[in-house]
This record gives sequence, C-alpha cells and structure tokens, in this order.
Amino acid sequence: MNQDEMKKQAAEAALAYVEGGVVGVGTGSTVNHFIDYLAGIKGRIEGAVSSSEASTQRMRQHGINVIDLNAAGPLSLYVDGADESNHQLQLIKGGGGALTREKIVAAASAQFVCIADETKLVSCLGQFPLPVEVIPMARSYVGRELVKLGGNPVWRENFVTDNGNLILDVHNLEIMEPIKLENQINALAGVVTVGLFANRPADVLILGSQSGPRTLKAD
Ligand code: A5P
Repeated sequence: MNQDEMKKQAAEAALAYVEGGVVGVGTGSTVNHFIDYLAGIKGRIEGAVSSSEASTQRMRQHGINVIDLNAAGPLSLYVDGADESNHQLQLIKGGGGALTREKIVAAASAQFVCIADETKLVSCLGQFPLPVEVIPMARSYVGRELVKLGGNPVWRENFVTDNGNLILDVHNLEIMEPIKLENQINALAGVVTVGLFANRPADVLILGSQSGPRTLKAD
C-alpha cells in the first residue's frame, strides 16, 4: 500500500466521527480524500466550514454547502491533516500554507480529528520544516528572530497565502518544548501564525497503515 492509499484509509475512517451539523474541514491531500468521502454523506450534514480556498472549491464542486465560520457558531468537529505529529498529538501543519485558517477553525471546534499516513508520526517534532506565516514587511525581521531561536528560516518563494501573506519554513529545529516555542514565535511582531499546534493539539489521530487505520488519543 502506498502513502496515498494510507491517507485515503485514514480519511475514510474519519467519517465515523461525523454526526451531522456543520463540519470543519482542513486542507491538503489527505483532506481531499475526506472531502470526497464527505460528499457521499452530504445529505446528513448541514454544511462545512472550510480552512482554505482550495478546500472550498473542492467542496463546492461536490455540492457541499460551504458556510462562513462567523455564521456557523462553535463547531463540534474539525477534520484536518498534518505534516508531523508527536505522541501527544501536537502537530506541525502548514505544508500547504493554510495554517492560519486551519488554526482558527481548530480553535473554534470542540473535537479535532487529525488524519494522516503513519509516516507522519514522530517522536520529536521538527524534521519537517516549521511553517510561519508573516506579514510581508516583517519577513526579514522575523527571519532574524527565528535564527536567534535556533532555526534556519527559508522564504517560500513565489507563494502567497490565502490571507495575502508570506511563509517562512524553519529548518533544523528540534522542538523539545512545543508549547514554549509556539508561544515564543507567536509573540514576534509580524508573525500571523506559526504552524505548531501544541497549545491546541489534535484530540484524535487516525493513521493509515499497512495493517489498517490506527487510532491514537492524546496522552
Ligand atoms: C496544509 O496547510 C497543511 O497543514 C496540511 O494539513 C498538511 O500539509 C498535510 O497535508 P497532506 O494531507 O497533503 O499530507
């Protein structure tokens, strides 16, 4: 079974958490499979809140009702992928650049179900470069501050987020204290969002694997 088939397996397993109402929907190739499965039960949900223009477009193509978060109120469920997860279900996200809206929808949701293939589970976060969304004029300043924190920030060139901002991908971090680092980076002037989801980790992680979907809960 290849990586994409494992992503698909995790996406299908997440359908069991959908109980109707409005579902928060993340972004990425794993979530694309989830959207395709969600289309099959769209009559059972009121609609979905989207975390990106790409997911909005895919859901609309399937005839899923996309609802503005401001009109939806608190959400009971958010389903999204991740670039890395540790065993506490703290995540690195933002490989697709949608981290800010993802963090907002995750924060507004009672339960966060993360779907991924088993290669995303790590013992220590940081092998995947940590995405940081910045206001364009703050790019160099924030870059220098990230170097002081021990990272090697690389500007994701020719990429603009859905919010009109830039992304710095921070390499060479061994994230021993995810909550502390999330707070430190959040506190830098010009940072919109850091792709560390440690203060608000996932509640459930479904990993596609060779032997079928595996479910982990936060320790
Ligand atoms: C999007 O910005 C990311 O946070 C995705 O959730 C993450 O990159 C996972 O993507 P895949 O499902 O494509 O691996």
